[in-house]
Amino acid sequence: MAKKSSKNATYTVPGLTTEQGHAVADVLQQRLNALNDLQLTLKHAHWNVVGPNFISVHEMLDPQIDEVRGYVDEVAERMATMGVSPNGLPGTIVAERTWDDYTVMRASGVEHLAALDLVYDGVIQDHRAALAEVGDVDPITEDMLIAQVRGLELFQWFMRSHIENDSGVLENSSARTEKAAAKAAKKAAAGRSGKSAKKN
Ligand SMILES: [Fe+2]
Repeated sequence: MAKKSSKNATYTVPGLTTEQGHAVADVLQQRLNALNDLQLTLKHAHWNVVGPNFISVHEMLDPQIDEVRGYVDEVAERMATMGVSPNGLPGTIVAERTWDDYTVMRASGVEHLAALDLVYDGVIQDHRAALAEVGDVDPITEDMLIAQVRGLELFQWFMRSHIENDSGVLENSSARTEKAAAKAAKKAAAGRSGKSAKKN
């Protein structure tokens, strides 16, 4: 059990009131929860992907996991810099998160990528909301979150490119859940292999 101590220091960064700095850091706690959750979820997909695209998806995920782990460290250290103790404990993620665990287990590359696309929608939307919330008070924290959104959106495009047809439509576009997104991508893949089998 973690030792109890005061969450807030008596200081924050220069130029902000202590209250302002601590309020910005408090916004970052949920971003820390989200990024910690994301790096675990990406590893889960890395281990559970199967099928012909195994190696490309398995290997595509690891650099993003490293990147997200870097964001975790950056957010936690920004909180500490601002005088608020970052809480990176698993129980805190589960207690404070507003989303459920990822729902896909052993599945093909496109199924995981279609489901992870929805995960990214959530993380990116919440990151954008957080940077808008803190931007007027603390452009330094805003700048950090902007850079992270840029990285997350770039990787989301990598994932989306696997489930996008030549008309620019995403195979999971009508799905509202990870399971439905995975199912839609699986169906589209089966359709593609059916067409190529007919051609042969
Ligand atoms: Fe690995």
